[in-house]
Amino acid sequence: MRTHWCGELDRSLVGREVTLAGWVQRRRDHGGLIFIDLRDRSGLAQLVFDKGKSPFELAEELRNEYVIGVRGRVAERSPENYNPRLATGEIELAVSELKIYNRSYNPPFYIEDGLSVEESLRLRYRYLDLRRPEMMHRLRLRHRAVKMMRDYLHEDGFLEIETPMLTRSTPEGARDYLVPSRLHPGSFYALPQSPQLFKQLLMVAGAERYYQFARCFRDEDLRADRQPEFTQIDLEASFYSQERLFDLVETMMARLWEELLEIKLERPFPRLAYREAMDRFGSDKPDLRFPGELVDLTDLAEKSSFKIFQGVIKSGGVVKGWCHAGGGRLSRRELEELIDFARREGAKGLVWMVREEEGWRSPVAKFFDQGLLNEIGERAGAQPGDLLLVVADRWLVSCTVLGQLRLRLGGPREQGENRPHFLWVIDFPLFEPEPGEKGYLSNHHPFTAPLEEDMPLLETRPAEVRSQAYDLVLNGVELGSGSARIYDRDIQQRLFKVLGLSDREAEEKFGFLLEAFEYGAPPHRGIALGLDRLVTMLTGDESIRQVIAFPKTAGATCLVTGAPAAVSREQLTELKIGVKAGGRKSGQSPSKPK
Ligand code: AMO
Ligand code: AMP
Repeated sequence: MRTHWCGELDRSLVGREVTLAGWVQRRRDHGGLIFIDLRDRSGLAQLVFDKGKSPFELAEELRNEYVIGVRGRVAERSPENYNPRLATGEIELAVSELKIYNRSYNPPFYIEDGLSVEESLRLRYRYLDLRRPEMMHRLRLRHRAVKMMRDYLHEDGFLEIETPMLTRSTPEGARDYLVPSRLHPGSFYALPQSPQLFKQLLMVAGAERYYQFARCFRDEDLRADRQPEFTQIDLEASFYSQERLFDLVETMMARLWEELLEIKLERPFPRLAYREAMDRFGSDKPDLRFPGELVDLTDLAEKSSFKIFQGVIKSGGVVKGWCHAGGGRLSRRELEELIDFARREGAKGLVWMVREEEGWRSPVAKFFDQGLLNEIGERAGAQPGDLLLVVADRWLVSCTVLGQLRLRLGGPREQGENRPHFLWVIDFPLFEPEPGEKGYLSNHHPFTAPLEEDMPLLETRPAEVRSQAYDLVLNGVELGSGSARIYDRDIQQRLFKVLGLSDREAEEKFGFLLEAFEYGAPPHRGIALGLDRLVTMLTGDESIRQVIAFPKTAGATCLVTGAPAAVSREQLTELKIGVKAGGRKSGQSPSKPK
């Protein structure tokens, strides 16, 4: 129904007859002339209707968002009518035929970039929101990124293989979305949190190199960078060294940034051991866009007479500090707010020290002699006018809280440059203590191989065992995560034991994997990159909802369809499911579109 796209028209077509189709962006009436900006996916073109010619009267009916088709001749605008803001601003279409395909209600918001309406309205009318050029641009960029990665992985011998959606629980640490089985009442499928187990089975199957743009489902608390269903670029490869895998991922990233943003990435990406990342930046996904590192002050703090510090040090804790350049100007109230923030982040308190031209200002200054304060200031790199923040606690707490303060105060938006800072974080601990400190949980997932040299500690000092897991981090965001896998049944079983899984439980949950390991499992490793996060980094958006066509709200609802929704009594009866009091009745929905 069209010969050209709106955005394609240019002077080379002057004099040619073309057919266009699209939506009315705007109508301007100039008495004898009507101007219409016609929009399709490619851009805008100006249509002119002349009073003397036939479709003029029909054109008077046109309103915003009407869907039309037009035929006409491309004409050059007179120079005083050039519109430099429009790619097609030097020409217009003198329309000879007009067809109105469909009319439209007046939309609830203008279809234009830079819109400032509530996100819930945009999500409710997502199909209108997506008409806006900036949103179409995001979808197009996402498409191009996916296409480039597919091409690249194909070139490198990776096969795209689909894995089931109706499956069993995969242990990625979130709650499962369950799907009741009609044929087996009382039994449930779980939607995959990731294709982890299947991709490992594919390696046992000899697929060698697998990838998939995999949908994953996790019932967890949502944030700006989390959705209940999201997409991973999921990879797994056999007989692959860590170097080879890092090189593959880095090359893929370098191509994306170069071809989509014309930015050349510096390679190889730096690598930081987890321990060092925490020590220096207070985060396992450090944001390297802005300067400033944490320092250890334990040995100096020990020389003070401040009881709180001494108590912490005696019980094996550390005293760490971070210097906020220029922070000396913060008001008393702002400092109080920082202390509250530190407490909310898990510290017992926060000491602040301001380096003045002469000496120091701090509520605890009396516990330190001047020389000691100067030594502390020197180590932290504090100049006059700077603020030193100090937390005494267990190592992990001190690091994490100061890391959060560093992000909050030294935020990249104020100081940082916007270049992409990629890095690999490696040597993660294999386990983390279970809340309540009873046992251990997997830090990544239970199929992650321990570092060879730490194997002897597996049963005796599990907390100290490091793993062969790695994260890809970009500007403070965890983009991807992966590891070398265990491919030996005995080691896998030893690991399950540390996790408190009895042989019976391990057999019941993962027996199929353990059995597969008995049939010749190759050494293999993999990684999964969060596609939504990756595209968000490419577009520079704050929220991954911006790059997902139909995202869910923070309450995990879909405002377009009204999901989740109650189902009919018949469906429930068939599934032999009863809904307890407090659940919703048939026809009710937490997000029913109005
Ligand atoms: P992991 O659980 O770390 O690893 O997930 C990998 C990457 O997926 C992205 N991601 C998310 N994106 C949006 N919303 C979410 N709720 C969400 N959760 C995770 C992140 C993350 O880095 N099977 C392993 C990978 C492996 O070992 O190969 C896995 O799923 O960018
Ligand atoms: P308090 O005696 O609890 O009033 O604490 C005196 C000061 O030390 C306050 O400014 C607290 O915020 C701070 N403080 C308390 N515990 C810690 C800690 N573990 N690390 C750093 N500062 C602390």
